[in-house]
Amino acid sequence: MNVCVVGTGYVGLVAGTCLSDFGMNVICVDKVKEKIDMLNRGELPIYELGLIELIQRNVKLDRLHFSTNLKEAVERSLVVFLAVGTPEREDGYADLSQIEAVAKEVAGYMTEYKIIAIKSTVPVGTAKKLRELIRENVSGDVDFDVVSNPEFLREGAAVNDFLRPDRVILGCNSERALAIMRDIYRPLYLLETPIVSTTNETAEVIKYAANTMLALRISFVNEIANLCDIVDADVYQVSRALGMDKRIGPKFLHPGPGYGGSCFPKDVSALSKLSDDVGYDFKLAKAVIEVNARQRELVVEKSLKLLGDAKGKVIGLLGLAFKPNTDDVREAPAIYVARRLMDEGATVQAFDPAAMDEAKKVVDGIKYQKNAYAACEGADLVIIATEWNEFRDLDFSRIKEQVRTANVFDTRNIYDPRALKQLGFNYLATGRS
Ligand SMILES: NC(=O)c1ccc[n+]([C@@H]2O[C@H](COP(=O)([O-])OP(=O)(O)OC[C@H]3O[C@@H](n4cnc5c(N)ncnc54)[C@H](O)[C@@H]3O)[C@@H](O)[C@H]2O)c1
Repeated sequence: MNVCVVGTGYVGLVAGTCLSDFGMNVICVDKVKEKIDMLNRGELPIYELGLIELIQRNVKLDRLHFSTNLKEAVERSLVVFLAVGTPEREDGYADLSQIEAVAKEVAGYMTEYKIIAIKSTVPVGTAKKLRELIRENVSGDVDFDVVSNPEFLREGAAVNDFLRPDRVILGCNSERALAIMRDIYRPLYLLETPIVSTTNETAEVIKYAANTMLALRISFVNEIANLCDIVDADVYQVSRALGMDKRIGPKFLHPGPGYGGSCFPKDVSALSKLSDDVGYDFKLAKAVIEVNARQRELVVEKSLKLLGDAKGKVIGLLGLAFKPNTDDVREAPAIYVARRLMDEGATVQAFDPAAMDEAKKVVDGIKYQKNAYAACEGADLVIIATEWNEFRDLDFSRIKEQVRTANVFDTRNIYDPRALKQLGFNYLATGRS
């Protein structure tokens, strides 16, 4: 089967590559020529473990192609996946301008039956809206279907998540489209991956409900952590014990500086806005947003309390990405904390194994270092902001010799408080201080 994927970002590139690995002929399209040129040179525009090997394999087998030519890609494909960005607008709503523009353009190139499969995360009603938009822009009486096929992959584990999903959601009102989409995901039958076939609207709600639920769990455990700090309890043990309860489960119960990334913040906000628009006051979504904003500010407050006056103080910031194994810094708590502490007069010297180039695009003034130890040199406070594996076993005896003041704020709780205290550090964590 011939398919194309429009948008070669974290989702589109992984989806396109994995679909080609299923045996399909795939053209990945992006409007940014530099990205396509990089991919055609065998370079990866994003950081994602295991992806380059899969790309190389499928390019070699002539099943995977990269192009800026949307017209040709649409003409050659039965299914057109849309995986462009749907970022948050300033007013909190999802910005649908990219996906609407692509839908219009795709419509103009359609001369025979196509399926438009929406992989981007979009508010309820978008599939219906795109159907109307395509109908208005398609020439003649060309038949088509719009399928809502939301994506649940996680950056840092994206290839595995796509190849071994918990479920595949197919929302549409056409038996023909459903049969073709089922055929695309047939390789997953062997793994007994459940396929949920439903309406477009239900599929759209499922994606927002999933992300809001995960964000809610993080905010919940962050509130428990803040309480633990006050009452002298250990959130590490609390969340471990919570997770042992089969009704609750252990995932997404790790306290920290708040969630970030390109999905949770914008998706919880979009769900809240959408609910307002239909006359429903979604109180939990609003509380999740509020708790998360407070959580990252709390890192700043605790740091300032430790530093006294921030002017002239040096912060050794370990980690910039919103989570490990990605170079994505969108809405990263580390970037927020860096900005705030620099505003207060501190100098921030940082190291991240993958995200420094991305950070340079969004924030000025950080002094980038070649490794974690260099970032700690002369620091008055070391902040561990992202739990990269290489930060989990640092030689703190060495760091003790390098820093100006022995303060560590382990926002992700990756160290044993006793061990660092024994080394003479003033150790702060989240909910186990
Ligand atoms: N990043 C994730 O972990 C994740 C997970 C699940 C779902 N999603 C959703 O998937 C969608 C894409 O997310 P992403 O992180 O991959 O975004 P991204 O910003 O990394 O990539 C989007 C790509 O679309 C391209 N693009 C925009 N307009 C285009 C056009 N007219 N023609 C061709 N290409 C165009 C951009 O150049 C960019 O490369 C979003 O709706 C997001 O919410 C993301």
